[in-house]
Amino acid sequence: MPESSVTLAWPGKARLFVDDEATPRASPPEVAHTRCGRGLYLFGDNARALSELARTHAGRIALAYLDPPFLTNRVHDAVTRSRGAGGKIVRASRAAFDDRWEDRGAFLASLGRRIALARELLAPHGSLVVHVDPKTSHYVKVLMDEIFGEDCFASEIIWRYRRWPAKTANYQRVHDVLLRYRKDPAARPRWNQAYEPLAASTLATWGTKKQNAVFDGGRRARSSSLATESLGVPMGDVWEIGVLAPVSRERTGYPSQKPEALLSRLIETLSDPGDLVLDPYAGSGTTLAAAARLGRGFVGIDQSEVARDTTRARLAAMGLALEAREAPAKSA
Ligand SMILES: C[S@@+](CC[C@H](N)C(=O)[O-])C[C@H]1O[C@@H](n2cnc3c(N)ncnc32)[C@H](O)[C@@H]1O
Repeated sequence: MPESSVTLAWPGKARLFVDDEATPRASPPEVAHTRCGRGLYLFGDNARALSELARTHAGRIALAYLDPPFLTNRVHDAVTRSRGAGGKIVRASRAAFDDRWEDRGAFLASLGRRIALARELLAPHGSLVVHVDPKTSHYVKVLMDEIFGEDCFASEIIWRYRRWPAKTANYQRVHDVLLRYRKDPAARPRWNQAYEPLAASTLATWGTKKQNAVFDGGRRARSSSLATESLGVPMGDVWEIGVLAPVSRERTGYPSQKPEALLSRLIETLSDPGDLVLDPYAGSGTTLAAAARLGRGFVGIDQSEVARDTTRARLAAMGLALEAREAPAKSA
């Protein structure tokens, strides 16, 4: 474990970096793969599954995205709608995953162990992104500094979204936090530059042409317009992407489903076509679907039957049916 100048302490933390007791007892994951061999899905506890993957996938993952439960201390239901007798819409709900914890320490121990296991699978040029909210992000940041080393911290991305307005005696929470770490800061990272549109004030002053800074005595004196069109400004770390609308075609009914647009941006910038993307908290399969659409291979893990069934249906609708297999394959 890298040296870290500041660490978190909580009762029971000592168990975090040794084999946790539950992992060897958890059943081995059920393994399925897509016929093309580019997609792998493991149904079962992700600590056990990640430990198994260490035999076949160590150093092979370009991007790991972890979207764990958010320490809400409740069970989250999936809601499905279908047409009943007489054409009426019938809503059915089914428990999808349990987000109840003894305390914050138990949550951090579980997540920290899984981050450390997923880190082992990263290629030297790889990144690991953890998606949390402000209730846990500051704790998780310090924990990740400890697991990766402070110099591996790459970015804190703020996902800003619009939600139904609610008046409370506080600012409404309209963002999540995505913490990105690199496996090896000495290695050249996977990086495909993305751009966002020019600001209205820039467009009004300079139009859409590329600007060239003109220096005078080492100081930027003015800009001059070039003939070529600007690509926009390099992507910043505050992303405004809509949450899924209730009527969105992407919506599966799975709780806390993230938009494919968010995952697509991460995957496009942090991996190349043909790379492998890992999601050990796969839920409805958003990461796997986005990775497949962008020509990446994927490895997904979840222990919820509802998550597995939702992912299976989602991938099948894309022509990527999952088929059972006995052990993780080297190819995917
Ligand atoms: C917040 S949801 C992920 C949602 C997903 N990003 C999506 O877009 O649908 C978290 C998921 O982690 C899964 N999960 C939680 N603990 C797990 C564990 N120990 N092993 C495997 N899966 C786990 C839950 O079943 C749930 O599906």
